[in-house]
Amino acid sequence: MTHFDSNEFLGNYWQQKPCILRQFFPQFEDFIDEHELAGLAMEAELDSRIVRFHKQSWQVIQGPFDDFDQCKGLWSLLVQGVDRVVPDAAEMMEHFNFVPYWRMDDLMISFAIPGAGVGPHVDQYDVFLVQGKGRRRWRVGPPDCTTEHITAPGLRQVDDFTPIIDCELLPGDVLYIPPGWPHDGKAIEPSLTYSVGFRAPEQAQLTGFLAEHFADQASVPLRFSDPKRKNGSTPVWVTSEDSHNLKQLIIQATETQDFLLSLLTLLSEQSLEPESPEATVTDSQTLSDFEQGLMLDRLTGLRPIMHPEAADWLFVNGEKVPHSCSDNAFLAQLLAKNVIGLADFNSHPGKLDIISAFTTLTNMGYYQFICE
Ligand code: SIN
Ligand code: CO
Repeated sequence: MTHFDSNEFLGNYWQQKPCILRQFFPQFEDFIDEHELAGLAMEAELDSRIVRFHKQSWQVIQGPFDDFDQCKGLWSLLVQGVDRVVPDAAEMMEHFNFVPYWRMDDLMISFAIPGAGVGPHVDQYDVFLVQGKGRRRWRVGPPDCTTEHITAPGLRQVDDFTPIIDCELLPGDVLYIPPGWPHDGKAIEPSLTYSVGFRAPEQAQLTGFLAEHFADQASVPLRFSDPKRKNGSTPVWVTSEDSHNLKQLIIQATETQDFLLSLLTLLSEQSLEPESPEATVTDSQTLSDFEQGLMLDRLTGLRPIMHPEAADWLFVNGEKVPHSCSDNAFLAQLLAKNVIGLADFNSHPGKLDIISAFTTLTNMGYYQFICE
């Protein structure tokens, strides 16, 4: 785009208000067409659906599809998680990596015929809507002005709203919508939309995770104690001090290193299928492959994460992986790349530790050498 300042975006728009980023992708070219999208919608591993307005009612037909006879009325075909299988889709998400990997969810791609869309609705998560081929009109309303209805099994919509944004997106334009802002996109021409989706854990998910974490712990858990108890006026009262101390017990439970490691493992979960090498590789083989000019390729869609207070570990796809690199900032930079070559770290003093970390990741099936 002509000018996009991610700091300005994060400061003024992210989670705050919607905005249009005109020509975020200049001279945009689709890496997929509707026929290839239909092919993906036939695959059982991807979540796909047709949403249509047909014979005066909304309907959702869940994939995978053997044929597309259900493309009737005003229909859209939507395929979720395309970044898991299409490298270009994973690459598109990288343009939004001013938001960290752990917050990213997936890339959904939709194709809509003129007049079609999924109707006015509200999403719980932030989304960047990238316009591919065709033109599409988007309307966005203010938050908290609508009520949700289930208009068909699996389809939540809201009543129409007064838009504060009413725009036409052209190929390469992006519309950012924070959670809770109603929106409605209707294709003007046969249209592809790429939705870069995010995730944000809910409190209940986190507390559920806390419970699971403790169920798995071998160590004796801390128990409530009250050695300085004061005499109360009646036995009925739970004092504020008691409830405060009970809450503190929960907080303390989250302050251990084990808890942080489990939390990071959880945040790295992507349910990707690693592709392990036929035979285990050694550090010297990795080095020699690099020296021959081979490039190490990250598994499509993989988004590894690290944390400054758990710096001896990296977290990939729900697994925690120990490493011995001392320059964590450098390792994090390498992990953010889709493809790594020797030139990326050859002069680094911790080269052998870097090699060793990537040998481990290769053996786990998260990286593999490719010929460029
Ligand atoms: C679509 O691609 O049709 C829907 C995307 C969205 O509204 O989040
Ligand atoms: Co939406």
